[in-house]
Amino acid sequence: MNERDKLNEIIRLSTEFSSIKDIDILLERILLEARSCVNADAGTIYTREGDLLHFSHAQNDTLQSRLPEGEKLIYKDFSIMIDESSIAGYVASTGEILNIPDVYKLPADCGYYFDVEFDKKANYRTRSMLTVPLRYETEDVIGVIQVINAKDETGNIIEFTDGDALFIRHFASTASIAMKNARMTRTLLLRMIHMAELRDPKETGAHVNRVAAYSVEIYERWALERGIDRKEIDANRDVLRMAAMLHDVGKVAISDTILKKPAKLTHDEFEVMKQHTTLGANLFVNKESRFDTIASVIALSHHENWDGTGYPLHPKGDDISVFGRIVAVADVYDALSCKRVYKDAWKEEDVLEEIRKLTGTKFDPEVVDAFFKCLPVIRSISEKYPDPN
Ligand code: C2E
Ligand code: SIN
Ligand code: SIN
Ligand code: FE
Ligand code: FE
Repeated sequence: MNERDKLNEIIRLSTEFSSIKDIDILLERILLEARSCVNADAGTIYTREGDLLHFSHAQNDTLQSRLPEGEKLIYKDFSIMIDESSIAGYVASTGEILNIPDVYKLPADCGYYFDVEFDKKANYRTRSMLTVPLRYETEDVIGVIQVINAKDETGNIIEFTDGDALFIRHFASTASIAMKNARMTRTLLLRMIHMAELRDPKETGAHVNRVAAYSVEIYERWALERGIDRKEIDANRDVLRMAAMLHDVGKVAISDTILKKPAKLTHDEFEVMKQHTTLGANLFVNKESRFDTIASVIALSHHENWDGTGYPLHPKGDDISVFGRIVAVADVYDALSCKRVYKDAWKEEDVLEEIRKLTGTKFDPEVVDAFFKCLPVIRSISEKYPDPN
């Protein structure tokens, strides 16, 4: 890419990033575009949480190519201190860029070291690494982006150039603005859910984050299987991630005596509880907004059943929105897996058995199929958002 192309690329990306509203979908996209601009085999984004850097998103073409089609790499979440003992920590604390030709040959006196454990486990050789702080101009560092193993035209691993470093620095600045907006949106949504639905100081939004993240994975798998176009999939994932978080927001209107009853609901109480679907749907009134439309449909249809025996309107089969069919599976998987005021957590094998048993009656078989295909990712999501004790 020449200088003019690079400039155009930065401008194109800033428009594209600002159109993505969900923070996780955005981070994934930022990493993908950064890697593509400097032809990097792999990359990682860390986000800042107080004094810690949280390992947030990672991509690796080489490791991905070793997996069967459609499978995803699973990464374990971890956090590191923001200090000068690690490469990402150094960049976050000093605000400097590090462009390292080979992380196995760091100067002995540099202070930071490279942890080879990941490479060993994954059978991967990390070599060149460019690490840049995510921040807008002189504002605080909100994270770190790391691109790994630059490739030449023939796929040989080479060093990142000074031009790459300059480009990624501008890129990081643009990305940071979009990140701040998306993070604000997520925070506001969680706050709204917290106030509306749970009224419980211990709740941190883990349930809604899990249900939403599961739904996105199930949807992607389902959509890829049907050959739906990548652009459409990505746009829907962005809206779904946020809309699915609000599936139960209608519980705002349900009294605490019913919502928090530590026992089975009576018939009449359950009839009241069922209204959380229509009450939720009615909160999203802007018919011109795609977000409102999908959030409304999900709130309305996430308790409908494939065979028409659900509530509140009892459509069946394809007449139920696919987003409702997906959130239904994600919600029940999560409800059964976790403790509720009215029930204990189930063992995973019992949960999966129950989902299989309900396939074709309660659940859409194709959605359940997609669910089982992404079960490893679903398990890793449940570890990422644990319930508070
Ligand atoms: P939720 O806790 O988020 O549960 C969502 C859905 O997961 C339930 O929808 C149901 O389909 C499934 N589910 C949860 N627990 C079980 C279980 O032990 N066995 C089976 N087979 N499925 C289960 P559903 O039934 O329409 O309930 C909607 C909401 O109503 C629940 O949301 C919960 O907030 C409330 N609710 C339902 N039953 C009770 C109850 O007995 N006591 C209390 N306090 N609340 C209940
Ligand atoms: C729910 O809103 O589905 C129940 C919240 C919980 O207690 O986890
Ligand atoms: C599983 O049970 O782990 C998934 C396989 C299946 O679809 O039965
Ligand atoms: Fe519900
Ligand atoms: Fe729920």
